[in-house]
Amino acid sequence: MRFEIIGICGSIRLGSFNRKLLELADEFAGDQAHIDIVDLRQIPMYDPDAELLGTPETVLRLRRQVAAANAVLFACPVYYVSIPGVLKNAIDWICRTPEPKQRSSVLAHKPVAVLGGGGGLGSLDAQNQLKEILDALDANLMTRPIVDMSRIVDRVGDDGYLKKAADRTLIKEFMSAFIEHIGGNKRVTSKS
Ligand SMILES: Cc1cc2nc3c(=O)[nH]c(=O)nc-3n(C[C@H](O)[C@H](O)[C@H](O)COP(=O)(O)O)c2cc1C
Repeated sequence: MRFEIIGICGSIRLGSFNRKLLELADEFAGDQAHIDIVDLRQIPMYDPDAELLGTPETVLRLRRQVAAANAVLFACPVYYVSIPGVLKNAIDWICRTPEPKQRSSVLAHKPVAVLGGGGGLGSLDAQNQLKEILDALDANLMTRPIVDMSRIVDRVGDDGYLKKAADRTLIKEFMSAFIEHIGGNKRVTSKS
């Protein structure tokens, strides 16, 4: 079985290094998984008043993609020791429960994992805050291994590839652990 993973990057910067991590994770997953990296630039600011008039189509599409996927992989840069606003905003939107009787969010029980890179201090503060949010949403979070790339700008070459073999190995190990984590998820195994 090939797992379908939605990749959500907390940076919408065109040359985002965190997006590169998702691309490498997809490459290293081989034929065991495919990561579809979504574009958060189309997601408007969360607005409860707009929501009352109807959830935007871009949000509905992203929510549907997440619901249909086997798992979600977040790439989380750090912005002032915290999770970037675009990422929190997307989570706020997609985790709203559209049906009054539907109490759990789209991320509930969904296998999820977080990796990321930042500046000199690394992305761990932001990653840990994101993990707290994912825990509150009852997602099935993989906690280890940790991929936190400080000074990521120095680690990614002009070709978009991680320069150090140790960094590439870490992403490979992370993806094999995540694939195992997804495979162990009750909902996935009961369907397959
Ligand atoms: C608004 C802003 C705040 C940042 N704050 C931090 C920070 O607190 N600690 C840190 O190590 N890097 C910080 N950085 C650096 C980014 O994490 C780093 O440039 C990262 O590569 C951005 O992700 P991207 O390459 O995927 O766009 C900040 C960058 C921006 C734009």
